[in-house]
Amino acid sequence: VFNEKRSAADARNYRRKGLDVDSRRIVDFLVARGIGGGTLLEIGGGVGAIQIELLRAGAVRAENVEIVPAYEAVARDLASENGVADRITRRVGDFAVDHADVPGADAVILHRVVCCYPDMAGLVHPAADRAGRWLVLTFPAARWWIRAGLRVMNGIQVLIHSSYCAYVHDPAAIDAIVRSSGVRPTVSRRGFIGELLALERV
Ligand SMILES: C[S@@+](CC[C@H](N)C(=O)[O-])C[C@H]1O[C@@H](n2cnc3c(N)ncnc32)[C@H](O)[C@@H]1O
Repeated sequence: VFNEKRSAADARNYRRKGLDVDSRRIVDFLVARGIGGGTLLEIGGGVGAIQIELLRAGAVRAENVEIVPAYEAVARDLASENGVADRITRRVGDFAVDHADVPGADAVILHRVVCCYPDMAGLVHPAADRAGRWLVLTFPAARWWIRAGLRVMNGIQVLIHSSYCAYVHDPAAIDAIVRSSGVRPTVSRRGFIGELLALERV
């Protein structure tokens, strides 16, 4: 699913239209809270559009950890076009497994990533622990039509012999894990399809 075709399409959309609405919300939240002069860690940041916008808004450095290699070349091109390539470090790996040497940052972002990984706690806990000031997560809202839609989508993936599977993890369980890392919700927005949880270290 997350292949060269997808990464090229994501980059094309960003070049043409800029950030989508949900990504813009994350950027606006962090800019309003004062990310200027701060650092970012994004898990599964794809082509890195959010990082580019936050670096242009005054963040000093960004790091991205991506489980698939397909985004790397496209993301580097986009960052160069936007003059921020020298401030982004990218590594390929499964963050839930290979996080020991990933440094913390002022803001940690998991945008549309939790739904792609079976071990929610394994992914979210080390991410929350690395959030110096803010943690921002988006994931599918736990609504019946989202569960039904993802069930159909997962069925199609099986039919086309894809190993991809999407998950609706319990938002209460996500909330409990991040709170145990010492961050508290500042914004909790439950939309028709997705949920945004933005937290601050107390
Ligand atoms: C739906 S895409 C979202 C990409 C980007 N955040 C966006 O919203 O456009 C999910 C991304 O999470 C990444 N991902 C999933 N599990 C991961 C893990 N355990 N470690 C690092 N990246 C992961 C995938 O490679 C993919 O790029």
